[in-house]
Amino acid sequence: MTMTILLRSSLTVLLLAVTAVWSGCSAEDTTQMKKTDRESALRTAKAEDTSMKTIGEIVAADYRTSKVFAKYGIDFCCGGKVPLSVACREKGIDPASIGREIEAVRSEPIGRSQDYASWGLSFLSDYILNTHHAYLKENTGQIAAYAHKIAEVHGARHPEVIRIAVIYDTIATDMASHLRQEEEVLFPAIKRIDATRKAGKTPETKDLNAIKTCLASLQQDHTKIGEALQTIRNLAKGYAMPDDVCNTYVITYNMLKEFEGDLHKHVHMENNILFPKAAWVSEVSG
Ligand SMILES: [Fe+2]
Ligand SMILES: [Fe+2]
Repeated sequence: MTMTILLRSSLTVLLLAVTAVWSGCSAEDTTQMKKTDRESALRTAKAEDTSMKTIGEIVAADYRTSKVFAKYGIDFCCGGKVPLSVACREKGIDPASIGREIEAVRSEPIGRSQDYASWGLSFLSDYILNTHHAYLKENTGQIAAYAHKIAEVHGARHPEVIRIAVIYDTIATDMASHLRQEEEVLFPAIKRIDATRKAGKTPETKDLNAIKTCLASLQQDHTKIGEALQTIRNLAKGYAMPDDVCNTYVITYNMLKEFEGDLHKHVHMENNILFPKAAWVSEVSG
């Protein structure tokens, strides 16, 4: 398809050049028109190529593209295995137009601090632990306490907050055991394998097996927790603030929104970057 577009573009460039000569344009004008047309054809080709990739692959290659997906309400973490063309069809969005927005974001200069896909396994594991796991440990209990407080005070007028508090408790419980499995089993195994390979040695079988057995169940946890958070968002009507509520209500909704944003990034880094890298390394080392 890309080839067809480039051939079509070349023909267009030729026609433009002939037209320019006949209409008396200068050689400089013609060169500029050719350049502009070629750039436009390349942009279209890249956008079409992007539409064949999954959302997870696109965001894993450049996290800055997540803001385009967030803008259109496209799930890039738990539901990131869907090709862009399919996600666009489901949302009624023109894939070429979103492809151009993605290319515009990608064309901005990127620093290594944002280029997560280029990070090594140990660095990625430590980063996730020190940012996202630390955030969860610091905030999960506080959000649960606030959720129960607003359920008590506002539950009669806003019954949805009672359900939100119950669902959030389940998330907190599931999250605690999920983090334990990552911190006590998966991440240490990943880091030992990474260090062993860097030393030119063969990783231990128990570490390779730990990766093989952990990844599927951890991804199932991500999906379950992601769905529960989506239910909370729906109950909270996208975190729209009612008029008759107190400050704690406002703080709780803001914290839930922040929790959801942090979790999307956290799950994206694991599902789309760390886990595929770890799976690949354990496959080639086994
Ligand atoms: Fe994690
Ligand atoms: Fe996780």
